[in-house]
Amino acid sequence: MATFKPSSALKRMATILQPDEAEEPILTPPVREAVHQWMTEIRAADEMAKLGIKPRCTALLSGPPGCGKTTLAHHFAMRLGLALVCVNTDQLVSSSLGGTGQNVAAIFAAIEEQEDLCVLFLMSLTRSRASGRSGGANAPTR
Ligand SMILES: Nc1ncnc2c1ncn2[C@@H]1O[C@H](COP(=O)(O)OP(=O)(O)OP(=O)(O)O)[C@@H](O)[C@H]1O
Ligand SMILES: [Mg+2]
Repeated sequence: MATFKPSSALKRMATILQPDEAEEPILTPPVREAVHQWMTEIRAADEMAKLGIKPRCTALLSGPPGCGKTTLAHHFAMRLGLALVCVNTDQLVSSSLGGTGQNVAAIFAAIEEQEDLCVLFLMSLTRSRASGRSGGANAPTR
């Protein structure tokens, strides 16, 4: 499996998990089935293209800290033979006008400049408003 060589720009913005470092995740039957279905879909991309359909290319992983989201994403990337590029979305948020959008664009630009494909993993820490300083209704926890 080829090693993904991130540019210095990408290294500054992301943590790179190489495919050969992935662990085997323990999955509940529904998650295992969902991963299997998605993998089947990706492997059938050529046949699907003939029908004008593209395989899904995004997924939302949610769950409490330490339940295995990163482990699963890393394993999934490994199954595709790709590195996992992990970006903490908190670091992208900027208080300057348009700053957040520019940071997001910079990530995609840095990935596009890479020679090899990769899987982008956006890690978001959603907090309940009730536990923060802003008060008000609880934010959706996903
Ligand atoms: N389902 C799982 N299968 C195998 N290992 C797991 C699983 N869940 C957690 N682990 C182990 O626990 C450690 C933490 O898991 P991981 O980092 O994947 O959790 P996470 O959901 O991404 O947490 P966070 O929300 O804090 O980012 C991993 O190093 C892994 O070894
Ligand atoms: Mg994680």
